Amino acid sequence: MSTIDDVIAAGLGVAQPRPDASQAATAIIYCDRLVRIFKVSGIEVQALQGLDLAVEKGELTGLIGASGSGKSTLLNILAALDQPTGGQARVAGHDLATMNGQERVAYWRSTVGFLWQQTSRNLLAHLTAAENVALPMRLAGLRRRERSRRTLDILGLLGVADCADKMVPQMSGGQQQRVAVGVAIANHPEVVLADEPTGELDDHTAAEVFSALRAANAELGATILVVTHDAAVSEHVNRTMAIRDGRISSELLRSTEIDEQGMQSHVAVQYAALDRVGRLQLPADYVAALGLSERVRLGLEPDHVTVWPGQGGATAVDADPGDEPEAGAEATKERQGDDDQPGS
Ligand SMILES: Nc1ncnc2c1ncn2[C@@H]1O[C@H](COP(=O)(O)OP(=O)(O)O)[C@@H](O)[C@H]1O
Ligand SMILES: [Mg+2]
Repeated sequence: MSTIDDVIAAGLGVAQPRPDASQAATAIIYCDRLVRIFKVSGIEVQALQGLDLAVEKGELTGLIGASGSGKSTLLNILAALDQPTGGQARVAGHDLATMNGQERVAYWRSTVGFLWQQTSRNLLAHLTAAENVALPMRLAGLRRRERSRRTLDILGLLGVADCADKMVPQMSGGQQQRVAVGVAIANHPEVVLADEPTGELDDHTAAEVFSALRAANAELGATILVVTHDAAVSEHVNRTMAIRDGRISSELLRSTEIDEQGMQSHVAVQYAALDRVGRLQLPADYVAALGLSERVRLGLEPDHVTVWPGQGGATAVDADPGDEPEAGAEATKERQGDDDQPGS
């Protein structure tokens, strides 16, 4: 049985949901107390309410949240299509709050790639798959020979080499989205941002798109952030965060471990985000399981914290039930952190 440290050391990146000073230095995507307020006819909507986020270079991360939780708002800021009302947002060394127009164009051209839900936003319908993938390279001034070579490599990597000469309407939805991944990675961006990229696809086709994203992540080392309302994303990535009311509320780190007999098993470690003043959100299924409401009783143990039903309850919710040394996390085999799924 590996400890949480082992799980983290296995390449899963960030150990704590809250970015700390060292993550501020190393994270390729970094948000600190990010706020975005929209004003519509005098009424304020706080789409992001002090969101903290750190994604390390090379991670393939999913961010799930119900409709209206602030996913697209966050992605639009990270994509430099919108500006925060307050707080910090940085991607690959670019400060998104202060970026000027010229920097923004360079940023779109070479630092980030995008993948949107609607194919029409990703691909030009009157071009072939190969022409679509080659277009960003052309805008970046790549020579024709290099363009065709790289385009074929990319289409092959994403499993859509056979679509090279097909026009967009001749391809299936899944093929179109895989070609769209190709457009996103055409200029070898450091970061790929995807907003509901599988929103219009069935599960099987969605899995193909995720496999294309995993290939882009593994082969090109692109850091990928996928936001979606679909909790199944956690099946396809190593790290899943949940966004609720414009903040990160919990996090699931997933890894595969092999025991002495060579048996493979999946381990999922669930974390809750702890904010600066010590607030955390208990997963909805934990709250329901023990009928917790209004007030809970807390206890401080040497290495963990207990949470008990407030009145007359006999069962303890142990924040760290196993013999893991770390407090505040639970490791369970094949268990999914499904507390924050939409609709719950
Ligand atoms: N341009 C906008 N003007 C006003 N309100 C907005 C705008 N964009 C988003 N919102 C509001 O901000 C909140 C978060 O929206 P959004 O980021 O689109 O959520 P998600 O992508 O998770 O569904 C919602 O309440 C939404 O109505
Ligand atoms: Mg959205």
